[in-house]
Amino acid sequence: MKKVGVVGCGLMGSGIAQISALAGYTTHVVEINDDILKKGMAKIEESMEKGKKRGKITEEQFAAARKNLSSSTGLASLKDCDLVIEAVTENTELKKKLFKDLSGIVRGDTILATNTSSISVTEIAAVVDKPERMVGMHFFNPVPVMKLVEIIKGHTTSDTVMAACREFAVAVGKEPITCPDTPAFVVNKLLIPYLLDAVRMVQDGVATPEDVDKAMVYGCGYPMGPITLLDYVGLDTTLHAADVMYAEFRESKYAAPVLLRRMVQAGHWGRKTGRGFYAYEGK
Ligand code: 3HC
Repeated sequence: MKKVGVVGCGLMGSGIAQISALAGYTTHVVEINDDILKKGMAKIEESMEKGKKRGKITEEQFAAARKNLSSSTGLASLKDCDLVIEAVTENTELKKKLFKDLSGIVRGDTILATNTSSISVTEIAAVVDKPERMVGMHFFNPVPVMKLVEIIKGHTTSDTVMAACREFAVAVGKEPITCPDTPAFVVNKLLIPYLLDAVRMVQDGVATPEDVDKAMVYGCGYPMGPITLLDYVGLDTTLHAADVMYAEFRESKYAAPVLLRRMVQAGHWGRKTGRGFYAYEGK
């Protein structure tokens, strides 16, 4: 693998593009318009600056990564990629359309990966020409820091593609695990019910958001409390994952509390919209 494409340069896509460019891959980022693309590329710069200040990235690595990065607003620029990783909004129809279009643009042997946190890889693969090359690569937020990547084997994903993705994950400094294509894979199957329970506690007046967070940070040593984490990963993303899991399993532990749904409807999605359970002003 030499050239990697990343579609979507938000929270996850920018992180994926960063680690790919830093690992020496020629990395091309695609967004839907110039304005969003500019913001996404600025996010990569900002994160690499932070990494440099923390002593994680050297001046030389920074310069080399910058050279490896390019961007555009058209999928056509991905035509010679060996691997394309999609990190757009969690919307099944959007992802299906994107991969259908992509499979008509890239080579027949280009690996197509979705960074979905809960959508079926197999369902997306069904619209792709040569579905054996469709795979899930689920990264964690913040991507430059979190070591895990879940590699999801869809019903049709080939072993060769799984092995190539594991190799790529290791090359970009991650620890891969293999997951079957069941809703929410491994991490979110544990994490989502925990986050939903935290919201239920706030909704039912059992504890304030601050106290729920304090409980898990000071009582269990978690780096972030669940309410802060919800704001961090996005209430919209969490709700979507919960809805997919509930639709599949019909178990009450996956049923989203009304408060979460109302907050998403109100546009209080967390850090990304400036307001979630907490308010985020400026940076
Ligand atoms: N590039 C490279 N390295 C960076 C960096 C960057 N931009 N920013 C920070 N780092 C490094 C730091 O140098 C530091 O390294 P060290 O431990 O070796 O010194 C490490 O990352 C931690 O950095 P900070 O000191 O700035 O960060 P904090 O200690 O404040 O921790 C946090 C921040 C890593 C976000 C921590 O709070 C955490 O782990 N939170 C939980 C995050 C989590 O659970 N993520 C998963 C969410 S679930 C998900 O994404 C899936 C989705 O589908 C829902």
